Amino acid sequence: MNHIGFKVSGRSHTCGELRHGNIGSRVMLAGWVQNWRDHGGVVFVDLRDRYGLTQVVFNPEISLQSHKLAHSVRSEFVLQVEGDVAARPEGTVNENLATGEIEIIVDQVKVLNQAKTPPFMVDDPGEISETLRLQYRYLDLRRPAMQQAMIFRHRLASLVRSFLDERGFLDLETPMLTKSTPEGARDYLVPSRTNPGQFFALPQSPQLFKQLLMVSGFDRYFQIVKCFRDEDLRADRQPEFTQIDMEMSFVEPGDIIVLIEELMKEIFKRLLDIELPASFQQLTYEQAMADYGLDAPDLRFDLKLIDLGKVFAASGFKVFRSVLDGGGIIKGLNLKAGSSLSRKEIDDLLDVVKVYGAKGLAWIKITADGWQSPIVKFFAEQEVEALKESMQVEDGDLLLFVADQPAIVNESLGRLRLHLAKMMNLIDEEQFSFCWVTHFPLLQYDGKEKRHVAIHHPFTAPLDEDIALLQTDPGAVRSNAYDLVLNGIEIGGGSIRIHDSKLQEQIFKLLQIGPEEAQEKFGFLLDALEYGAPPHGGIAFGLDRMVMLLLRLPSIRDVIAFPKTQKATCLMTGAPTAVGSRQLKELAIKPA
Ligand code: AMO
Ligand code: AMP
Repeated sequence: MNHIGFKVSGRSHTCGELRHGNIGSRVMLAGWVQNWRDHGGVVFVDLRDRYGLTQVVFNPEISLQSHKLAHSVRSEFVLQVEGDVAARPEGTVNENLATGEIEIIVDQVKVLNQAKTPPFMVDDPGEISETLRLQYRYLDLRRPAMQQAMIFRHRLASLVRSFLDERGFLDLETPMLTKSTPEGARDYLVPSRTNPGQFFALPQSPQLFKQLLMVSGFDRYFQIVKCFRDEDLRADRQPEFTQIDMEMSFVEPGDIIVLIEELMKEIFKRLLDIELPASFQQLTYEQAMADYGLDAPDLRFDLKLIDLGKVFAASGFKVFRSVLDGGGIIKGLNLKAGSSLSRKEIDDLLDVVKVYGAKGLAWIKITADGWQSPIVKFFAEQEVEALKESMQVEDGDLLLFVADQPAIVNESLGRLRLHLAKMMNLIDEEQFSFCWVTHFPLLQYDGKEKRHVAIHHPFTAPLDEDIALLQTDPGAVRSNAYDLVLNGIEIGGGSIRIHDSKLQEQIFKLLQIGPEEAQEKFGFLLDALEYGAPPHGGIAFGLDRMVMLLLRLPSIRDVIAFPKTQKATCLMTGAPTAVGSRQLKELAIKPA
């Protein structure tokens, strides 16, 4: 009892705490029954909480009543036990358990709660169906692997908070009920009851608000914040996810890059005991596309794409000829030791590139007995020689080619490169390989919509030296944007922003957002830019993605306490659900 008469303390220690030095102490523990066994009349229970496991022993000679009660407990019952810490008898010490030297000789026990037989055992080391795990997420989260992931996530977030706090960043909140903040996905909408027929959008990111905070003079902002994007889901995407979001005034890209490299080094050192290099490799978008075919290259292995435009410039091979004449390109990959692949295995590779629009996958096996290939017969002598040199051909190689429009060649060979690396075990899974990708194009032409769209978002500044091109060749303008890529996955992206309302208006115009639409959608930003907006820039990281990669987990769902399925549903709560007609009426919404 404390001085105002409340009971204190339901336990004296956690289940992961007691060691040899505690032998002889009287303790009280509380936790869940992990398992239960009866050895010659003595009951042994492994009691579990988030900190660990402790063996508790119910001996009828110590307490008949406790022993009797212990016989009625089952997996996942919640117990409170009191007793003395004792050394485990010789030969029964468990080296693999932090508390493995001791056990509790129980003389008092209370069942704090019972439990139904769980749909899966919390200590089951095998595969449990993900549907079941998501449906009973609260039980899934009891599993040590999930607890470790959530604890790691917390530690990462708190490290980021203190790192940024120490450097003068302010944690400022931005609204969740807001206007569309475009990041390239669909918005989640929330109907307004008090303004019938009108909707809020949940933020795709705090982008506009963080820029406004710079206009307000807060200088350095950060937030660990939920973002909402209604997009097609993949293993590294969720409809609601968490960003580590930052913005700074009076900065150049180099300031942001240095700060983030420091942050990453700190995270890796403190949480994983890994020393990262002093700085990370930087690639321009153009280089990344040329060598790896993708804007988020995985640099843990080599296998670069090789441009063969020169080699085949005068080719008589029909397929290559017509592609080159039509403004396309030809690129190849040289898979070392790939000539051991069977015909069937090579045919299967065609299925990989087809997904990305490639019409074929030409190949040459380089063997000691010569070149085997359906296409070599069409090549002139000098083409064969030029090919040998540009692809550094050796016996045992497998050469693979795609000829098509650049976007198709790059994406299909870029994806094939990743596929081959997995298939041939070229990736050192222990390695963490960072790179910055910079100088992205500012705009991309959308053939379907017949207009330019922003590659990053419409608030990203063009490079100063490319501003003049906005008038003449908008597609060639490069942006002042940078992405951070880890092991081939984009973990963060940001840019220097436009702080000049005239330039912002010009960009909206290029994006075919008319003055009225711009005013209606972003008038508040355009206005704010006219009241002394400082030059500013920032970046945002996907916290979930980072945790997933750092823990080497296959899915983002494994690092989110209550994630959604691929269909953006919650199997535990059943959300989303239909709502009653009364509620819809209140919101002035007619059911479809
Ligand atoms: P961007 O759209 O690149 O930039 O997002 C930043 C990072 O957020 C993560 N991310 C996601 N993670 C999980 N599920 C998703 N659906 C998802 N979408 C994005 C990625 C990505 O790198 N406002 C800008 C940042 C800025 O310019 O400062 C923005 O949101 O890891
Ligand atoms: P075809 O003349 O269509 O039978 O093609 C001859 C070889 O070239 C086959 O091995 C095809 O897979 C390959 N091929 C066809 N189109 C392309 C292409 N666009 N890029 C690369 N290889 C191709």
